[in-house]
Amino acid sequence: MILAPLSPLLRLPLLQGVSQQALLQMDAETAHGATITALRLGLAPQQSHPDAPELRTALCGLDLANPVGMAAGFDKNAEVPRPLAQMGFGMVEIGTVTPRPQSGNPKPRLFRIMGAHGVVNRMGFNNQGHDAVFARLKDLRVPAALGVNIGANKDSDDFVADYVLGVRRFAELADYLTVNVSSPNTPGLRNLQGDEALRRLLGEVLSARARAKTRVPVFLKIAPDLDETALDAIAAVILATDLDGLIVSNTTIARDTVAGLPNASEAGGLSGRPLFNLSTRRLAQTRLRVGDRPIIGVGGIHSPQSALAKLQAGANAIQLYSALVFGGLDLLDRIKRGLTAAVRAEGKTNIAQLVGNRTADWAAGKAQL
Ligand code: FNR
Repeated sequence: MILAPLSPLLRLPLLQGVSQQALLQMDAETAHGATITALRLGLAPQQSHPDAPELRTALCGLDLANPVGMAAGFDKNAEVPRPLAQMGFGMVEIGTVTPRPQSGNPKPRLFRIMGAHGVVNRMGFNNQGHDAVFARLKDLRVPAALGVNIGANKDSDDFVADYVLGVRRFAELADYLTVNVSSPNTPGLRNLQGDEALRRLLGEVLSARARAKTRVPVFLKIAPDLDETALDAIAAVILATDLDGLIVSNTTIARDTVAGLPNASEAGGLSGRPLFNLSTRRLAQTRLRVGDRPIIGVGGIHSPQSALAKLQAGANAIQLYSALVFGGLDLLDRIKRGLTAAVRAEGKTNIAQLVGNRTADWAAGKAQL
């Protein structure tokens, strides 16, 4: 391996320039596999300096060195949570993991929309299952908050029972759990966001959590394709529970922002830059309904400015994935530097002081990027 002996400082521009171009020439899923392999081999840069104190964030009792996380779906099988944390993510969410392994949908199932910096995926929860992921995480020390995102097998007779198994399996191992009911690629899954179904799901998930040895924070991850009436119902359900927070949002089935572009009509969920305005508006609308319950904002973050906008719309912390396909690995560092500068420019001392200062504009559709 040519890159291995180089210092982290030299590795970054190399991975940035040469490899990023090479990755974009490959089929999208092959490029993803190559990225995971590079991370496993230790080829990613490690952050050499501690995060600025302005970025330190408390989230449901978790102490994050910074509020920027890797979203679920990048490391479905928990192969590289440690290298991701060492790159400087404040949290790393692995999964979605289902009780039994499953292969997902036939390939191709992952597409770039180059002109718009969008991604469409219909992976279908391809993953190695609870046992394999548990074995990998069991003795691993991850220097960031570790989230485990749990889901249901496509052919399960009882989706709710699959989530309960996920809680039992990972409650003591994860820093937080995410109940993912918003993937568009498992038929019927998103029905769990409906009033009655959600009540039953959260009832069972939270009683399973109550029976576990530790009180692990539990987040619910929702779709951006919910209207305000649906958000009213979800807020009413969750406010009656001790669910810790929400993740807003997953990918969208809408295509209006990419209509006519190559790959735009592929079936699946759209993510990346074309998702930013929709997911940020839904985040703000959710914030208005749930008081100060923690929300992790995700969807289309691709720059320091968009990261800041997500926090101003009401997110306590943020995650990203798709932008790394186009922007490369220095995006994380640029976002963190931009957020630190924004805190200082406002005369504040911590990023939490900027959270939600533009919620009303985003919720009303008056703000956009
Ligand atoms: C995802 N996402 C996702 N989310 C989730 O909860 N479980 C999963 O298994 C996956 N899988 C997945 C695969 C691929 C290829 C992509 C691009 C995305 C959704 C992801 O976590 C995030 O919510 C959206 O992608 C929006 O954020 P970005 O990508 O626009 O920053």
